[in-house]
Amino acid sequence: MDLMVADNKFLNVGLLLLATVIVAKLISALLMSRSRKSLPPIVKTLPLIGGLLRFMKGPIVMLREEFPKLGSVFTIGLLNKKVTFLIGPEVSAHFFKAPEADLSQQEVYQFNVPTFGPGVVFDVDYTIRQEQFRFFTEALRVNKLKSYVDQMVAETEEYFLKWGDSGEVDLKYELEHLTILTASRCLLGREVREKLFDDVSALFHDLDNGMLPISVIFPYLPIPAHRRRDRARKRLAEIFSTIIASRKLTGKSEDDMLQCFIDSKYKNGRSTTESEVTGLLIAALFAGQHTSSITSIWTGAYLLKNEKYLSAVVDEQKRVMEKHGSKLDHDILSEMDILYRCIKEALRLHPPLILLMRSSHSDFTVRTREGKDYDIPKGHIVATSPAFANRLPYIYQDPDKYDPDRFAPGREEDKVAGAFSYISFGGGRHGCLGEPFAYLQIKAIWSHLLRNFELELVSPFPEIDWNAMVVGVKGNVMVRYKRRKLSI
Ligand code: HEM
Repeated sequence: MDLMVADNKFLNVGLLLLATVIVAKLISALLMSRSRKSLPPIVKTLPLIGGLLRFMKGPIVMLREEFPKLGSVFTIGLLNKKVTFLIGPEVSAHFFKAPEADLSQQEVYQFNVPTFGPGVVFDVDYTIRQEQFRFFTEALRVNKLKSYVDQMVAETEEYFLKWGDSGEVDLKYELEHLTILTASRCLLGREVREKLFDDVSALFHDLDNGMLPISVIFPYLPIPAHRRRDRARKRLAEIFSTIIASRKLTGKSEDDMLQCFIDSKYKNGRSTTESEVTGLLIAALFAGQHTSSITSIWTGAYLLKNEKYLSAVVDEQKRVMEKHGSKLDHDILSEMDILYRCIKEALRLHPPLILLMRSSHSDFTVRTREGKDYDIPKGHIVATSPAFANRLPYIYQDPDKYDPDRFAPGREEDKVAGAFSYISFGGGRHGCLGEPFAYLQIKAIWSHLLRNFELELVSPFPEIDWNAMVVGVKGNVMVRYKRRKLSI
């Protein structure tokens, strides 16, 4: 009996030991697999400057070469930094949704600080920046947009009055110019538009020319373009400070973004300073002016090249006019679904902001659509590319084709593939706040042109100017116009 008890004891101890060893093995295997990071594949380049050389050839060229070889997640060394690309909705959700503490914009967009000026956007910490973006949101609410649209329409009508009965124009020049005029009116305000337009445009021109590819790496390099930028920024601050002081003195309020920023208040009750108002206006102009004018040019080029869509948008204008007469306002523009899809498709093919970036402050993991997990370590710069991701063939059928119907009910290719499939306006936490403004502006221009002119593209279909900071159209876009005798 005693022997049997002793045997059982030995057996129990043996089993316990075996179980302990198995559990220990399992835990260690689990820990091992956790700690063995699966880093993204690396783009093969020459040491040190290889990545930079690849990048300077153009990020899209690099993406076109590497995506088929390495897939949707890969890293390239850029001088002392590692840039990890996340291409496609499956792997870029975290990019768009992550809190600022995990993925931040401040470091990567720091080069804007000398242009926008001190105390705004990327020069301030995230809590203040969030409040300043709230000022943007409020300045772009529907009730405000309604009054901006009236000004857009007035500017557009006035602008095209100066065209003759027929002639040939560079559509690129015309639409760039009209966009500056409209932006001046709606954003910078009546005083600038009516009295100071030439001075202020020249100063913005200097600000623009002070933002070069080299400025991204060395924003304070003492080169003539940067010195002109700094002088222009200072002079703009003086001009706006006079305008703001005069508005405050007379108590006169206007329907423009300038007024919204003057009236904005931080949560602690503090009003915006004159310098902050100037900085926020510059930021708005930089965010919205080139992006919108470029998109209106591409929209025109595609419409004039595609008879099917040109007649579809003209017919839509006829229908809208039958219902509302020649009037154009916010609500009427919002009814133009076909024109909307034509603009959206031009913007899918040609997003002016081709790279979006963040700086990563914590490790994170992404899963590709093939089910492979990659660990992205903190310290990496993380990037995605609207120009590349908007043409992924598993999301967009025949992706290089101009096909606005892909967004029509029944197809809605961008929705079928889920969030972050269409990223011309970014998305998630930092999605564009000016998207409705941009569509209204482009629609106001094209409604007017389609209703009043017959247009024909006479130069070859434009090429992409990859060298610009905001990627647009290369060369002239020559168009022959004839004023319609009768309304459409
Ligand atoms: C076709 C025209 C436009 C395009 C393609 C465009 C594109 C974009 C993109 C891609 C972003 C996200 C950047 C990122 O994630 O790093 C963005 C953000 C932003 N855009 Fe636009 N934009 C346009 C027009 C405008 C206009 C007209 C305004 C204002 C008047 C504006 C104001 C802003 C602001 C304030 C942000 C920052 C939002 C944030 O970080 O929370 N944009 N835009």
